[in-house]
Amino acid sequence: MTATTPPSAPASVWTPNTWRDQPIRQVPTYPDLARLDDMERRIGKYPPLVFAGEARRLKAHLALASEGKAFVLQGGDCAESFAEFTANNIRDTFRVLLQMAVVLTFGASLPVVKMGRMAGQFAKPRSSDNETQDGVTLPSYRGDIINGPEFTAAARIPDPARMEFGYFQSASTLNLLRAFASGGYADLHDVHRWNLSFVERSPLAGRYRDLAARIDETLSFMTACGMTSATTRDLRETDFYVSHEALLLPYEQALTRIDSTTGDWYACSAHFLWIGDRTRQLNGAHVEFLRGVKNPIGMKVGPSQEADDLLRILDVLNPANEPGRITLISRMGAEKVAAKLPPLVRAVERAGHKVVWLCDPMHGNTISTVNKLKTRDFDAILSEVRGFFDVHAAEGTWGGGVHVEMTGHDVTECTGGAHQLSEADLAERYETFCDPRLNAEQSLELAFLVAEELKQRRIHHGQPALAAQ
Ligand code: PEP
Ligand code: CO
Repeated sequence: MTATTPPSAPASVWTPNTWRDQPIRQVPTYPDLARLDDMERRIGKYPPLVFAGEARRLKAHLALASEGKAFVLQGGDCAESFAEFTANNIRDTFRVLLQMAVVLTFGASLPVVKMGRMAGQFAKPRSSDNETQDGVTLPSYRGDIINGPEFTAAARIPDPARMEFGYFQSASTLNLLRAFASGGYADLHDVHRWNLSFVERSPLAGRYRDLAARIDETLSFMTACGMTSATTRDLRETDFYVSHEALLLPYEQALTRIDSTTGDWYACSAHFLWIGDRTRQLNGAHVEFLRGVKNPIGMKVGPSQEADDLLRILDVLNPANEPGRITLISRMGAEKVAAKLPPLVRAVERAGHKVVWLCDPMHGNTISTVNKLKTRDFDAILSEVRGFFDVHAAEGTWGGGVHVEMTGHDVTECTGGAHQLSEADLAERYETFCDPRLNAEQSLELAFLVAEELKQRRIHHGQPALAAQ
């Protein structure tokens, strides 16, 4: 434990229920508490979605990332939706994440830990409790697991029955992801040959083909040495984990279980849960809930995060300073990252906390167009990524990965990128239920950029000790 925890404040007893005694933000007001109670009890009896052993395995991978021996790719929808729940959507996001991971593995010469914002990323924090359209004010949409996106009074009433639908959609999504990851679909021999129609006409196509040729050569060499998909599990399967923001605590509590193999509590709605930038108060309900579960957890840190406060929260969330337990997801904005991130990185280093640092270049760069669409400019996103790696290079620390909102579809939600989408193009295929996402091409372009950054830093700075394994 570091010196920031006052000796007079021993950690109080934790149960899955103790968050209810703390001040809470971003909670829906359910009109019928008895129905909410019934639903919590019902989901409390349903099988867990993940096994604690999987969460421990992810924690071990993240521990490597905290030492500069792995890189993390976390990505997916801002908000999954009930309406867009199809096998094709799940497959397309999974595919682009895997393609990004291949590019990053080559660039970093490191294993890439893959986590989807998938199979449970439903609940959304909102900047305002209400939304007004044409003089009519209704409660804000808070994600499909809470209320409906339609602008009607009925849809906006929080409905506990949505939790059950969210649970089953998560189970079904996870089932398909597990099948893809281990059933042969993710064989490295195929990943780089996947149809890249979305980049065919862009400058990326050549670069991707170049990379694919190098992978082909490597795989041929490995085959000659006797390492094939049949003999080597790592070539035919991949580890893929799921994650979401732990915002809707009644749902999270209902899926929190004791692991029979260790006797520890685990949140079993996903392998990895994070605390959002709006709910990271030291004495708040969300920090209280997550301190008691043994999963690897994340926390978003935005420009209002103070270093002292961050250290106090780290002491509460990770008193034993276990590597892999904490991932800090920086989301400062392109303009602020150079000023706001260094004091936090320095304070965490000085206190000796072992954390993984990820860059979320999305949430600090959201702007509103003249037509009132939310967008993000690709250049700002790239600029924040570069700023993030610059800070870590200057501090001698490891920028351990990226966290992005993306989709496998050809949407038009973020401006810029190889196809130079303009604000006027956005209306064409603007499909998000919440924040603007990178489309498949922009996602891959980002992966190329990050891979190049990592490679350059490896060649020119030799930092950090890249013990690929
Ligand atoms: C999000 O990740 O969708 C989100 C709301 O992020 P933040 O908490 O960083 O604003
Ligand atoms: Co978002």
